[in-house]
Amino acid sequence: MEVGILFMLSLSTLFLSGSHSATFTITNNCPFTIWPATLTGGGGSQSSSTGFELSSKASNTLNIPSPWSGRFWARSQCSTDATGKFVCATGDCGSGQIPCNGAGGTPPVSLVELTLASNNGQDFYDVSLVDGFNLPVSITPQGGSGDCKASSCPNDVNKVCPPNFAVDGSDGGVIGCKSACLALNQPEYCCTGSYASPDKCPPNTYSMIFKNQCPQAYSYAYDDKSSTFTCSGGANYSITFCP
Ligand SMILES: *[C@@H]1O[C@H](CO)[C@@H](O)[C@H](O)[C@H]1NC(C)=O
Repeated sequence: MEVGILFMLSLSTLFLSGSHSATFTITNNCPFTIWPATLTGGGGSQSSSTGFELSSKASNTLNIPSPWSGRFWARSQCSTDATGKFVCATGDCGSGQIPCNGAGGTPPVSLVELTLASNNGQDFYDVSLVDGFNLPVSITPQGGSGDCKASSCPNDVNKVCPPNFAVDGSDGGVIGCKSACLALNQPEYCCTGSYASPDKCPPNTYSMIFKNQCPQAYSYAYDDKSSTFTCSGGANYSITFCP
């Protein structure tokens, strides 16, 4: 048994010494408090923090070991209800707590999607409005080599959201904007059924509303490849809400 434990310890030492971790700086540039969250995809272990509170103008750093694949988003207008459950008007993950513990955000929600490669290989990242929009967001690599361009959705899509796609906050203002797929659930907007390929699912009037506000972001499932960005060499990343 001792031999087995020793063997596992030396294996994990080997593994750790060969791995890399990326530092993420999450900044809230919105004029109100937000609650950022992370979700690890593909069965990987969750990041050290799956949700936290971030006051206006504050930053927080997270270390995420690579390889990793997952998403970042932020929740808004959160509070603790009468039963002690933590709930948010946008991006709520249903955990009832500030950490999301492996649950995703309820759309409409703006997403930063990211894959960190192993061995300082090529990372992939994008901003996605395929699940709709709640807050403007950007991702900017720091260090690294290759393309390493920032991708940003800098504009407030809520301001131009068609009324039938809008999610209203308690004060009556628009706090989220559903994508056409989410709002209408039709194959031609979701690129499903006989529309399930890029040539059969072109941009539409609704996806163009998102694209016009945020040209670098994915506006629907088969948006053009210019929305995916890459960076190599073990970059760190800063993610800013309301950039
Ligand atoms: C990433 O940040 C860490 C410190 O948090 C630093 O040691 C490392 O050099 C940075 N990597 C790059 C590529 O800038």
